[in-house]
Amino acid sequence: MSDVRICRDVAEVAREAAAEVSRIAEEAVAARGRFAIALSGGATPRALYEELAREPWRDRVDWTKTNVFWGDERLVPPDHDESNYRMAREALLSKVGIPDANVHRVRTELGHADAAARDYEREIAKLFGLPTGSAPRFDLVLLGLGTDGHTASIFPGTTAVHDDWRVVAPVWVEKLHAHRVTLTVPAINQAAHVMFLVTGAAKAHVVGEVLRGVKHPDHVPAQLVAPERGTLLWILDEPAATALMG
Ligand code: 6PG
Repeated sequence: MSDVRICRDVAEVAREAAAEVSRIAEEAVAARGRFAIALSGGATPRALYEELAREPWRDRVDWTKTNVFWGDERLVPPDHDESNYRMAREALLSKVGIPDANVHRVRTELGHADAAARDYEREIAKLFGLPTGSAPRFDLVLLGLGTDGHTASIFPGTTAVHDDWRVVAPVWVEKLHAHRVTLTVPAINQAAHVMFLVTGAAKAHVVGEVLRGVKHPDHVPAQLVAPERGTLLWILDEPAATALMG
């Protein structure tokens, strides 16, 4: 069952989400001595990352016990304008005391999506102390939502939609003419907490499709996100939530 919180604007979404991240982080460190989070990319989460870099959240999260991963990455260099890693580093990671060893980016310099995906899967397995390919249980996976119903880089019509045997998948996205690397649906659904952050009127229709629409995951892959033993929270601003109101 999804918990949906509707905020007045992007600033309130960022504050609400930062409070949730901080709460989950404290819970994870208390229970397991570490907090493993998969960040989302795109533009929406920047406001959250900038909020987490400010008081009171910056000091509430124990960054020395936090391990940061990405839910997906574009196959571009880490200093590229399109890099999800670069955005998070600029908005958050460069401003908090997180050890470099705790930042686990997708090594896109390996050149091929498949090689980068295999390498990233090994990196994840190492942190979780799992055999490579076993689904990790992230404490928190942050997700965004595309107007076409994609989340992470699980785009409609791509092989990622039905990839249920890997933790990390390479994916060719024809509409973008681009390679991506993404956590798969099973990996996301193993998380203890999954949080969608969606803002803006342009997303209102697709939010309605995911939360209220006919189940058609091939067309709306975000409908596949259903944590098996975890919570699912949507934090929306009012413009993105209009299909849910009234
Ligand atoms: C990415 C993201 C992707 C994003 C959606 C929404 O790498 O692009 O991980 O899944 O969350 O495309 O992007 P915006 O927040 O920019 O609308």
